[in-house]
Amino acid sequence: MTYQRDFTKKLRVGVVGLGSHCYRNILPTLHYLPVELRAVCDINLELAQATAREYGCKAYASPPDMYEQESLDAVLLVVSPFEHPRLAIEAFRAGLHVWMEKPVAVRANEVEAMIAERGDRVAVVGFKKAFMPAAQKAKEVVRSAEFGALHSLLAVYPMSLPGNGQAVLEARKFQNWLGNGCHPLSLLMAVGGKVAAVTSHLAPNGRGVVLLEFADGAVGNFHLASGPQPIESYSFFGERAHLRIDNSFRVTLERGIPSQYGVTTGYIPAGFDSGAITWEPQNCLATLENKALFTQGFYQELFYFCQCVLEGKAAEEGSLEFALDVMKVYEAALVSDGKRMEIDA
Ligand SMILES: NC(=O)c1ccc[n+]([C@@H]2O[C@H](COP(=O)([O-])OP(=O)(O)OC[C@H]3O[C@@H](n4cnc5c(N)ncnc54)[C@H](O)[C@@H]3O)[C@@H](O)[C@H]2O)c1
Repeated sequence: MTYQRDFTKKLRVGVVGLGSHCYRNILPTLHYLPVELRAVCDINLELAQATAREYGCKAYASPPDMYEQESLDAVLLVVSPFEHPRLAIEAFRAGLHVWMEKPVAVRANEVEAMIAERGDRVAVVGFKKAFMPAAQKAKEVVRSAEFGALHSLLAVYPMSLPGNGQAVLEARKFQNWLGNGCHPLSLLMAVGGKVAAVTSHLAPNGRGVVLLEFADGAVGNFHLASGPQPIESYSFFGERAHLRIDNSFRVTLERGIPSQYGVTTGYIPAGFDSGAITWEPQNCLATLENKALFTQGFYQELFYFCQCVLEGKAAEEGSLEFALDVMKVYEAALVSDGKRMEIDA
């Protein structure tokens, strides 16, 4: 079943934070989830009331009031890294399962505080690039015998790091590396695993390279690119093949061709076992798999959360532990300034 109205078992949910992203992406995704939207909440009560009218649910200006008045199973937090830790802990204490947007927090120790309060509640972070179909395919391929060992990873993403990272951390300053650096980091780490050490090499304008040494031995290059879109791409290089993600949805698996230098005369061998395979959404039909809510991972991250709650199992993907690993890399890259920063396990 794909549509909200068709599910027989639904979670009673409330949503906190009804700004631009929630309205554009999160509320529309609920149409495809096993949920019943009981109430919405925003410190801007007018916004909450207008949204509640549209969705036929109740409006609140304070999360504790909403938790007290409504019998909710879960809450979706779409606010900001400054508020997510406090709001998540408040929701755990009210007995709720929590899905929250990235970035989860401003500092790594705030993620540890959330883990300490989670108890048996399910918590999932909306790392959409780790959940998007292209990332799921990358994980499957990179772990296959046909691909062989993963040797290196490359992310090209529009980003710069601020100077004086230690001061940025201590002042809890919002900057793009906090707001969006977690997007490519979460994808690289979902595919490549834990990072053991980080070294940032930056030009004076903050562009450059964040070198990631993965615990399993692969080396990652997070290239902090400049210029307008389209410049986002990801590559994973293995022993026997390499895989590329372009525009966050086109996946190309390069298998190569049998070739002997100076001897082979043809470049298109017979059969189906060589060359590249490309997957991309077909844009001809009015279906679901080509919609941004599905290609970018919003549906997958939220559906996974609902599944974990309904099946009573702890989250393995997009977990708070994964978010903590991402935050540690975020912090290490900020303060590295050319020095190799080891990340504690
Ligand atoms: N995954 C993505 O692609 C993506 C894209 C955009 C934004 N985001 C994330 O979504 C979150 C929201 O971003 P946005 O652009 O919608 O921001 P926004 O400022 O438009 O919306 C935030 C809303 O939260 C409300 N709010 C603030 N404090 C609150 C509190 N204590 N209780 C209840 N409501 C409160 C504000 O009034 C506002 O309406 C951020 O964490 C952002 O990083 C994710």
